[in-house]
Amino acid sequence: MSAVACLILAAGKGTRMKSDRPKVMHEIAGRSMLGHVVAAAQTLAPERIAVVVGPGMEAVADSVAPVPTIVQPEQKGTGDAVRAALPAIGGFEGDVIVLFGDTPLLTPATLERLVEARRAAEDPAVVVLGMRPADPLQYGRLVLTGDGGLDRIVEFSEASEDERRIGLCNAGIMTFDGRRLPELIAALQADNAKGEFFLTDTVEAARARGWACSVVEGDPAEVLGINSRVELAEAEAILQDRLRRQAMLGGATLIDPKTVWFSIDTRLGRDVLIGPSTYFGPGVTVEDGVEILGFSHIEGATIRTGARVGPFARMRPTTVVGEGAHIGNFVELKAADLAAGAKANHLTYLGDVSVGAKTNVGAGTIVSNYDGYNKFRTSIGAEVFIGSDTVLVAPVTVGDRSNIAAGSVITHDVAPDALAIGRARQEDKPGWAPGYREKKKAEKARRAQEKG
Ligand code: UD1
Ligand code: CA
Repeated sequence: MSAVACLILAAGKGTRMKSDRPKVMHEIAGRSMLGHVVAAAQTLAPERIAVVVGPGMEAVADSVAPVPTIVQPEQKGTGDAVRAALPAIGGFEGDVIVLFGDTPLLTPATLERLVEARRAAEDPAVVVLGMRPADPLQYGRLVLTGDGGLDRIVEFSEASEDERRIGLCNAGIMTFDGRRLPELIAALQADNAKGEFFLTDTVEAARARGWACSVVEGDPAEVLGINSRVELAEAEAILQDRLRRQAMLGGATLIDPKTVWFSIDTRLGRDVLIGPSTYFGPGVTVEDGVEILGFSHIEGATIRTGARVGPFARMRPTTVVGEGAHIGNFVELKAADLAAGAKANHLTYLGDVSVGAKTNVGAGTIVSNYDGYNKFRTSIGAEVFIGSDTVLVAPVTVGDRSNIAAGSVITHDVAPDALAIGRARQEDKPGWAPGYREKKKAEKARRAQEKG
């Protein structure tokens, strides 16, 4: 598909979100709404693309870089937003798709259908994505011509009682013939109750010039426009269902799918098993044959083939769990790189650390990586045995095949093949216990007598 330009409108304040953040920056599946729309647009490999933002929306502009942004100085309507953006696609003669930053569930397939329809034999000037939602709410209504073409779009605020009964609504995505778009935009008037330039009025302007317009119908679930946090949660639920289906169709078993939460970029191999109530934040790759047991919380991690994780494991960004490694319950990993076959099975914190192949990290091991001011790295070699309840005070290097005695506080490097013990020595008093028991029993009996 060639010669497409995309304009994404995101200048609105989104007051109904009741938020200090611009509406389009709210996230679903770990990516901003606008990020989803930009990603969908990018699948068309557009020759030109621009996002329209409002004044002071630098964070929004930064979030889409290197996609260029244009500032619409005043929010005078969707038609005005496109007018502001026209210079960015200066004289573009292909198909121009206008998308809204608040419809994050749109799929590339639907965008392709719109472009195909724009290239149909009757050469429509405008193609609109329509939908028939169960509850048409305040969406614009599509008025058809006798032969099924599109005659005009009536905004809800302008619609008569009869027009409001029309079930076919404007989903908001419109495709234009780039050669005719500037003329249609120039024809817009703000002669409506809201005093805005409606992009939707381009249809009437096209019809007045004898140009055909048409509708492509889409799935309402895909073009849900997000205006409030209730709708944000609805969109999240729809997207999570999509991602769960994709995961299962791709060869992962989800024991209780509706409790598993994915990010849009979660990558899963084949024969992955995922237990209940597991969360995948952004940046997770899970290779083939991995088992992730329930209640695990994973972000920014790569889990290599055949590893076993959880239940109740936590992984924070830039973690690698090597092939066949085991990470057990209540183990937290942060910037931890574990080689193949390494094990940390219980109650452990490994932060800013590398762990060599087949090393066993005992229960309750803590890497003390932070002194209140700076973080330090720890390097643990291969085939090391770290006894339970060890504290490794970073920075420290533990050599290959060394042993660390349980309960040690390790403050300096351990040589390969060495045993390190860093704890008070045990002292034994033979035959001490019977005397102690007699003394305690006598005390108890005396107290009972005094109480009488
Ligand atoms: C719009 C459509 C309506 C359609 C609905 C679908 C118009 C006039 N109406 O209504 O027919 O059914 O979407 O969801 O197009 N924006 C700007 N600058 C502006 C105004 C808006 O960039 O001056 C952006 C917003 O950030 C938003 C998008 O355009 O991303 C749509 O604006 P919004 O106010 O949400 O339009 P609706 O009233 O929902
Ligand atoms: Ca909207």
